[in-house]
Amino acid sequence: LLFAAPIVADDRIISELSSPVSNQFWWPDQLDLSPLRDHEMRSNPYGDDFNYAEEFQNLDIEAVEKDVNELLTSSKDWWPADFGNYGPLFIRLSWHSAGTYRTIDGRGGAGGGQMRFDPLNSWPDNGNLDKARRLLWPIKQKYGRALSWSDLLVLAGTVGMKNMGFDIYGFAYGRADDWEPDFVYWGPEVEMMASYRMDKDGELIRPLGATHMGLIYVNPEGPMGKPDPMGSAKNIRTAFSRMAMDDEETVALIAGGHTFGKMHGARKPDCVGKEPAAADIEKQGQGWINTCGKGHSEDTTTSGIEGAWTQTPTKWSSLYLSNLLNLEWEQTKSPAGGIVWHPKDKSMHEAVPDAHVDGKRNPPVMTTADLAIKFDPEYRKIAERFLKNPDEYKKAFGKAWYKLTHRDMGPKARYLGNNIPKDELIWQDPIPEVDYEQITDKDIVALKQQVLATELSVPQLVRTAWAAASSHRVTDMRGGANGGRLRLEPQKSWEVNNPQELNKVLTALEKIQSDFNEKAGDKQVSMSDLIVLAGAAAIEKAAQDAGHPVDVPFEAGRADATAAQTDAESFALLEPTADAFRNYYNETTSYRPVLEMMVDKADQLGLTVPEMTVLIGGMRSLDANANGDKHGVLTDKPGTLSNDFFVNLLSMDTKWEKMDGNEALYQGSDRKSGNNKWTATPVDLIFGANAELRAVAEAYASSDSDQMFVDHFVKAWHKVMNLDRF
Ligand code: HEM
Repeated sequence: LLFAAPIVADDRIISELSSPVSNQFWWPDQLDLSPLRDHEMRSNPYGDDFNYAEEFQNLDIEAVEKDVNELLTSSKDWWPADFGNYGPLFIRLSWHSAGTYRTIDGRGGAGGGQMRFDPLNSWPDNGNLDKARRLLWPIKQKYGRALSWSDLLVLAGTVGMKNMGFDIYGFAYGRADDWEPDFVYWGPEVEMMASYRMDKDGELIRPLGATHMGLIYVNPEGPMGKPDPMGSAKNIRTAFSRMAMDDEETVALIAGGHTFGKMHGARKPDCVGKEPAAADIEKQGQGWINTCGKGHSEDTTTSGIEGAWTQTPTKWSSLYLSNLLNLEWEQTKSPAGGIVWHPKDKSMHEAVPDAHVDGKRNPPVMTTADLAIKFDPEYRKIAERFLKNPDEYKKAFGKAWYKLTHRDMGPKARYLGNNIPKDELIWQDPIPEVDYEQITDKDIVALKQQVLATELSVPQLVRTAWAAASSHRVTDMRGGANGGRLRLEPQKSWEVNNPQELNKVLTALEKIQSDFNEKAGDKQVSMSDLIVLAGAAAIEKAAQDAGHPVDVPFEAGRADATAAQTDAESFALLEPTADAFRNYYNETTSYRPVLEMMVDKADQLGLTVPEMTVLIGGMRSLDANANGDKHGVLTDKPGTLSNDFFVNLLSMDTKWEKMDGNEALYQGSDRKSGNNKWTATPVDLIFGANAELRAVAEAYASSDSDQMFVDHFVKAWHKVMNLDRF
């Protein structure tokens, strides 16, 4: 009997199912909406109205930096500083906190202080960085909410460099903390240090940045632990370019970073206990407890590779480069068994002082990944140039470190502090200052009328405003309507933006803009404002036509960037390969199935489940599909703003079936007559099929929800239009 199978609670079942499991445990293919429910303000102990930028105004910056500087050389007995300086450890802390950043989806990076949470907290690559954070805790405790962990994690290494004689390029505060782990796809492997992430052409699958699970970038011993410097160079180039770094920046970062400090592999790996997430409760969140010898100092075991790269590991110098390029290296093993390279020249074997034992001398070392810089011809050229030109090297490292640690902060408008370089850097996606008078409410009314008097349709205007604003991603604060980059390459040629139609819309809007600006004197309207304003005008008309008049709020103040201010190559990374809101999906270039891409896009726009739902339903009734096709436009009045999408989707009068000859589309027919009524994509049908989405769709389809639907749509729309206004 199907329902009468005996239920025997054996030990295995009890241990596996003794706590609640997600629906994905039972039905692995069920769409997971949890990315849209993380970072709830309720997780933040400082409350809903906490504003880090405001709290930061109370921070005594000089005092903080003085405290960090003093800590560097105040060695603690529970974790003594190598060479009497925590600077190198803190540089590694800052680098690993920022180095998870990946360009393809903007996830990772120093913002949020994610390294405090698992999985990053317990990644093998972050070994013993828990100690670095505990060393910093008294400073965090002293300054409380005015100094975020995420700022402190980046500051610590930067002050460390200054202390060791390096002139930093600049530093900005402004990273607010998260209170729970980000929901990020870190790779397909179920084991740390494993790597099954190359596609059939040997390319790292998108959107990943690192080559191995649990590592920030590449395996130091070489690809899959093989001592192959050229293979390592290939991995480094892939991984660092996914972090937005070119060859020059990559060489500067690795060489500059490894000028400081040492690696740790004094004892066998089995001396080292479990990572923080698996450690016993009395360890109080500390992991990797080493039970051999002192358990620290000369017995420290972290990566399992042992030794310092230079003769002066707590001083800025070009010794990393001269050692790497001028010495010959032979492969050997560290005491922990890790692959490491020592100079062939035995006279160098006593060149480096020991970090803890007086009078002991050691050889300088290189990892396989370091040797990649010597063996790869392009990297080598750069390394040789840096060695010949120490000032150029210094400048390149300073700038690359600044980029590494600020890359995910978005525009300069978000930076705080007193040491922000004035320079405009192209990776900051600069937007010019507004130096003209803004349009008034009266102008707004007039401009809307002019827009609606053109030949442009509601769907065209809605699509255009959406194309501009929805290029923003909250993961690294890039993109958005501000800057007016929809007018520029590469954005104006993206397939999802329907370049031909876009050109028509922009030409018409540019005419309105130039007419206005000619007459208005000091007052000007930017194209970026006009694009958003035109979208608002279209939605107001569409709502009016559906019998639910509404005001769409609009705030002027956006400015237009030039092509010279736009790094086209880096902007190309923002191209949506899927946009469920415009019912667009490119199967070849998307890195996930269509429904997961829908959640991914909504997550990158910072939307909740109801916001995603109401926007998709509304965009369908507005007839705003990317290429104008009718899939999911479940209304008899396309181009108006109504809840028809939900009403018709949930109606039992329609029977849905896969379309003959096209697995990715569905045909909806009238159950009685059998006549075809609608067509739809999986993105449309999921709002009826997935129980959680259906619940929200029902709320918007109900007869008492007409006005709520319009109000919520406008609120969510306005949120997307303003995502990039800081
Ligand atoms: C330490 C690998 C890039 C800064 C280490 C260690 C390894 C490693 C294995 C030893 C960890 C330990 O046992 O304590 C790599 C690899 C890289 C890379 C494979 C990329 C290919 C960088 C970059 C920076 C950096 C970009 C900074 C700009 C440091 C510093 C240390 C270190 C300062 C010394 C930490 C200490 O003294 O405690 N690295 N690293 N590394 N790394 Fe890197």
